[in-house]
Amino acid sequence: MGRIPQEFLDQLLGRVDLVEIVNSRVPLRRAGHEFMACCPFHTEKTPSFSVSPRKQFYHCFGCGAHGNAIGFLMTYERLEFLDAVEELARQAGLELPQTGGNDRVSIKPLLLDLVAQADRFFRRQLREHPSRQRAVDYLRQRGLTGQIAGVFGIGYAPAGWENLSRALREVGATAENLLNAGLSSRDEQGRLRDRFRDRIIFPIRDRRGRVIAFGGRALDGETTPKYLNSPETPLFHKGSELYGLHEARMQSQPLPRLLVVEGYMDVVALAQHGLPYTVATLGTATTADQIERLFRVVSDLVFCFDGDRAGRAAAWRALEVTLPFLHDGRQVGFLFLPDGEDPDTLVRREGQATFERRLEQATALADYLFSELRGQTDPETLAGRARLAERARPLLEKLPDGHFRDLMEARLQKEAHLATTRLRPPPAATAVPNRADRNLRLTRTPLRKAVALLLYRPELAQGMTADDPLLRVNSDPGIKLLTELIETLLKHPHLKVATLLERYRDTREGAILERLAVWEPEVPEESYQFAAEFTDILAYLRRRNDPGEQVPEILLRRGVPSALNAEEREAVRNLGKPQKV
Ligand code: UTP
Ligand code: MN
Repeated sequence: MGRIPQEFLDQLLGRVDLVEIVNSRVPLRRAGHEFMACCPFHTEKTPSFSVSPRKQFYHCFGCGAHGNAIGFLMTYERLEFLDAVEELARQAGLELPQTGGNDRVSIKPLLLDLVAQADRFFRRQLREHPSRQRAVDYLRQRGLTGQIAGVFGIGYAPAGWENLSRALREVGATAENLLNAGLSSRDEQGRLRDRFRDRIIFPIRDRRGRVIAFGGRALDGETTPKYLNSPETPLFHKGSELYGLHEARMQSQPLPRLLVVEGYMDVVALAQHGLPYTVATLGTATTADQIERLFRVVSDLVFCFDGDRAGRAAAWRALEVTLPFLHDGRQVGFLFLPDGEDPDTLVRREGQATFERRLEQATALADYLFSELRGQTDPETLAGRARLAERARPLLEKLPDGHFRDLMEARLQKEAHLATTRLRPPPAATAVPNRADRNLRLTRTPLRKAVALLLYRPELAQGMTADDPLLRVNSDPGIKLLTELIETLLKHPHLKVATLLERYRDTREGAILERLAVWEPEVPEESYQFAAEFTDILAYLRRRNDPGEQVPEILLRRGVPSALNAEEREAVRNLGKPQKV
């Protein structure tokens, strides 16, 4: 995979505005020369997430999350580096540089394009293929309208081994990319084979609505597997995607809740019958990743499961995965369906209103949790109550700090007739230091202070000249970092801090620089002597690194310092060590 040229990242980060990027996802409020919000990366009631327009850098004083526009998109949208860069470039109207040949920037745009072509192909087959009638009849017999098939982009993969691959290779797709996109596989003779054959096709979209994978249903009862999904590909990780989430979000009305079901057909049928807020996991147990994504969209979830044993087991797993996300204000219900029913059959028979009544009567998570535990223990005996408490404890400990956790704890005390529950306390809410305190977190040395000053005021670099002896110091990695920053800034005087830091992404230096970028002057900016302070430290560093000024090593080793007075001894001891400024 090719690297994105530094100049392009400079240009990109110089063009985009972090405040705008954050604000469109997390509304910001102006506070002095920064913008603040409640942190999107941890739960809090008072804002400690700040965005600096000048530094183009965000930082949360609660949880320590920080970064530039690329980092924000990577964390918030859970994009990989190249995807975040691509997204920003798109917003900024910049063309991603093509490094040409095998040295492609990312394979994903290519695969996305291929999957999009496959999606068009499958939909066209449903309209045009000679044997389309079988597929149309199947959909009709399952009660789907043409309209809802259109909303979900349902298609048809005709029978045959190479319908799709032939069509796509004609327009330039390579075998390798067909394999990479999960559209083809090779048989034992090494021939390219279409993955989806004679199946109804459900396109799976990512959060931006791009088709990334497919699910295919057999048209009869005999073919196995009944459903075939795309394999894991660079585009598709089934444990983090949800079928129908994009379609649900495209609704014009605000979503009242999201209903989580198991099947593609359930999602489509519920949408057709007036419940267009349903998503399906893709043949896997519900994952934390999925829960987190769902709670980004709504605060009410209802899980819908079969009433049978497998359904109950799946529901319990979903409960366990959900507990850590139950911040105050969020709500989770469980709906168990009568034996032999699924949401698809039920909503067809009962209609929207009756089904929605079921949803409103869904079992609240708290009731479900305690009723399950009561079923496993005997609340009439002391031993049974102790067991109840013991089983509840690890579950309740997963809950984040908040009123809901307190209420659940109180409920456990009541259920088990206990005076105390012995829960381990929730992880201490990180105290949010105020501006004066926040600098204290950084171990302060003159060198670090110089870097912090430089990151706050990059123009300070302009005061340094090319023949400065500091630039020749090679022995001290810290000084090398400082002078490297200065040299970069001399070459590119208009770099923003965020852009400067981008050069150190995923390096040890980067981690240090990011922490130092948080520094703020302890006194109002207007009265802070940036230049004087910076010059003083540089002078000190020059002295410290001038061989002529150094106390001979032997003086320190030979015990001679005893001939010095206390203050001198201290001075000698501190030579070459970090010092307070
Ligand atoms: P179900 O077997 O419950 O089927 O699978 P369903 O959704 O009711 O399907 P219809 O109504 O018979 O068409 C639920 C989900 O489990 C996954 C699919 O995601 C399916 O929607 N699954 C099921 C598979 O991935 N492979 C299978 O062979 C079966
Ligand atoms: Mn079904």
